[in-house]
Amino acid sequence: MISERMKPLVMNNSAIRTMFEEGNRLAKIYGRDKVFDFSLGNPNVPAPEAVNQAIMDVITEEDSNMVHGYMSNAGYEDVRETVAQSLNERFGTSFTAGNILMTVGAASGLNVILKTLLNPGDQVITFAPYFLEYGGYVRNYDGELVVISPNTETFQPNLKEFEEKINEKTKAVIINTPNNPSGVVYSRETLENISDILEKKQKEFGTSIVLISDEPYRELAYDGVEVPFVTKFYANTVIGYSFSKSLSLPGERIGYLVIPDELTDSKEVFTAASIANRVLGCVNAPSLMQRVIKRCIHEKVNLEAYDRNRNLLYSSLCEYGFSCIKPQGAFYLFMKSPVENEKEFCEVCKKYNILVVPGSSFACPSYVRIAYCVSYEQIERSLPAFKKVAEEYGLV
Ligand SMILES: Cc1ncc(COP(=O)(O)O)c(C=O)c1O
Repeated sequence: MISERMKPLVMNNSAIRTMFEEGNRLAKIYGRDKVFDFSLGNPNVPAPEAVNQAIMDVITEEDSNMVHGYMSNAGYEDVRETVAQSLNERFGTSFTAGNILMTVGAASGLNVILKTLLNPGDQVITFAPYFLEYGGYVRNYDGELVVISPNTETFQPNLKEFEEKINEKTKAVIINTPNNPSGVVYSRETLENISDILEKKQKEFGTSIVLISDEPYRELAYDGVEVPFVTKFYANTVIGYSFSKSLSLPGERIGYLVIPDELTDSKEVFTAASIANRVLGCVNAPSLMQRVIKRCIHEKVNLEAYDRNRNLLYSSLCEYGFSCIKPQGAFYLFMKSPVENEKEFCEVCKKYNILVVPGSSFACPSYVRIAYCVSYEQIERSLPAFKKVAEEYGLV
């Protein structure tokens, strides 16, 4: 019954989801506090209280037809203007409502822009390690995802291979910084180099190549690290943003695309993206959440809680002899598996009720991802188990 297109997706149903279900199974057997589930990027830090208050205030204070009604496919004009002004204040840009398209989270923002841009057979490049859903999103529009192998020295993109793989079919490049799963923030130098390469290749092939910056973790950056704003570097940039992590609202499905005036055919792209939003069936981003975002644009989640988790986990795992990349952003820690086959390592972790995700789920085998968006207490409780794993591999 199901379509040929869906069959491989059903076959490879996300390892992360499977792990999450395994966590629930183990919790039933051993008790929730004895299972250390680091598999899912579901924020444990609550949404700011102001968000909950804004939900109530919008319902009591605003016109019900407006709050629950249809609006332009791009979203409420005043909400888009608020988003634009907040970007301008923070990044010295000059966006208006006409550059902002409200979306159903980053996932749908990416689908909207890919549907807007891709012809069958077009290629989209991304850098491993990457969020594996990109493959599905690109195939939705008969595009081909081209993956650049990871640079395991720095986890900044491998630019030599990038330059080699760009060709006349390259329509877009997706970057994600702060990165899921590595926690690395792409440096200013990296972004300048990516822009230079893209400028050069656009000229060489006489094409337009769109840099899509997927930024659900923009606000989650530690130790004052700079997360450069990508439209500053390259004109043909589109930004995909989400409040899933920055306001801990993943189930509410709210985000936006930034389509700058500098983008080639910007107005046409914006119109097409609004229509893509409609014909993909989203129609518009959730109306209540749009109204809430307008009131809460300056709100932040408690970043200190993630930072505390990050420091405890990173220092403990290093002390036990594991080799880890120090996360600069997001809430993931990428750790080298002590054995080549990281899936085998994940199974050993499971013996100690630790659930982590194999790096092959992000096209970066021999690493594992540990999502530390969990309670501090879970990390504390899990440390003896991580130590035992280290002992089993003779690391301690
Ligand atoms: C890199 C990356 N992009 C996109 C998404 C999708 O986010 P959203 O919940 O906003 O659709 C995620 C979610 O975890 C992600 O990690």
